[in-house]
Amino acid sequence: MKNKETAFLSVSEEDLSYAAKLIQDGGTVIFPTETVYGLGADALNPKASEKIFLAKGRPSDNPLIVHIANKDALTPLADEIPSVAEKLMDAFWPGPLTLIFKKSDEVPKTVTGGLNTVAVRIPNQPVARRFLELAQIPVAAPSANLSGKPSPTDFQHCKKDMTGRVDAIIDGGKCQVGVESTVLDISGEKPVLYRPGGVTLEQIEACIGKVEIVTSANTGEAPKSPGLKYKHYAPDAEVQVLRGGIEDVQQYVDKLSQLHKTAVLTFDEFPPFSSNAISYSLGSKENAAQAGARLFAALRDLDDLHVEYIFAPEIPETGFWRAVRNRMYRAAGDKIIDVTNKKILFVCTGNTCRSPMAEAILNDIAKRKNLNITAESAGLYAGGSPASDYAQAVMKEMDMDITSHVSQQVTKELLEEADLVLTMTNAHKQMLDTLFPQSENKVFALKQWAGENGDISDPFGGDIEEYRRCRDEIHQMLSKGWEAHL
Ligand code: TXA
Ligand code: MG
Repeated sequence: MKNKETAFLSVSEEDLSYAAKLIQDGGTVIFPTETVYGLGADALNPKASEKIFLAKGRPSDNPLIVHIANKDALTPLADEIPSVAEKLMDAFWPGPLTLIFKKSDEVPKTVTGGLNTVAVRIPNQPVARRFLELAQIPVAAPSANLSGKPSPTDFQHCKKDMTGRVDAIIDGGKCQVGVESTVLDISGEKPVLYRPGGVTLEQIEACIGKVEIVTSANTGEAPKSPGLKYKHYAPDAEVQVLRGGIEDVQQYVDKLSQLHKTAVLTFDEFPPFSSNAISYSLGSKENAAQAGARLFAALRDLDDLHVEYIFAPEIPETGFWRAVRNRMYRAAGDKIIDVTNKKILFVCTGNTCRSPMAEAILNDIAKRKNLNITAESAGLYAGGSPASDYAQAVMKEMDMDITSHVSQQVTKELLEEADLVLTMTNAHKQMLDTLFPQSENKVFALKQWAGENGDISDPFGGDIEEYRRCRDEIHQMLSKGWEAHL
């Protein structure tokens, strides 16, 4: 839907009156709030609010937030105003806190996505307040982005996404908070936080006591807040939240930056990235407000530069950081990539056939899948010999070179350095457990680790065909085990 003449309005009284008139006549107006820009329409007119879903490409079961100018305007919308609501409204309204009430009959179900509850807030931004006062009706407004994209925090973002899709856009400059309001459901027995935002969990709990948190859709249950089940805030680039020490992160970013156009969201205190990734600072790592205000603009700016990957650091889960963290994770599809280097030690008897093959195969998998893993190998009775001729030959068939391998004796230090130790047989494991009981918990026989029974038997003394079988079995077990454990 892109067939409207869109008026670009200033924040003058005249323009705001014009915008208010558009809303009263069933039109759509994008207006600034302290959080993000909202795409507004008359909340009590189903035909008007339907236009919002159309303009955004938003699924119709995802309910809208109703914006009002003052507390009196809440009474006709809510069926019941519980006592916790009074406390919360006194403490945080006007402000970035959306409260969910049981809805009255006046609120059409188009606005609530078919639910019996309604989300309401009073924004704390002079232009929004004046516009709502002039409109004199409750205004339903989701964030003014195309569905799934990062919310707009500046007039330019709205102009880019929504020109031709709405009747007017008010230019109110940059939004101060930069992430959407906190969404708190107080319609049930216990208050439930659906979305962290400008009013923090700590502030809310100090006001009304313990709050339940349901901010991820990955609970397996039908989401109570429909917005939770949709991918959100996602730029065109793939966002990856990385966990690990700065060196491991640098190494991971370096590798991907050689092949792709990449960017890193970083903080002023972090050391500069050596790779050709674009560095985009969210400000000081002590300043959550600044990071929140910059985040969505950062995602949009980086899309304009056509980067393929955006790497983001892990963010603390306290105060306003919780909201920033939530938006970053949602943009990354709710997963964190652990880039910490892991050392894996393979152990067999002589360290000349099975374990050097396993070492080479895993290092090859790690290289191809860009996993930060280093494999090594050792033997229970080993030292100073090259890999056997057949082992070298069957690895060469797979383009893996183990000609420079020199066998080594397994030691306490090697075991201590390893994050995981995989032996070729159960007997090897038992022997290691007896010799080094303190490492027992990280030692596994390869086949058991891959979810199978039995041993990788020794090809020593067999023909080349036996070595091929051994090589392929090790490969199969490593692939299988890797799928199961990662
Ligand atoms: O800061 C904000 O809240 C911005 C500005 C414009 O006010 N608005 C905003 O709206 O972020 P939107 O539609 O993008 O997000 C509303 C969220 C969605 O996740 C939706 O599922 C949830 O609030 N929500 C709305 N009504 C609900 C209800 N009755 N029950 C549960 N969740 C509801
Ligand atoms: Mg939104």
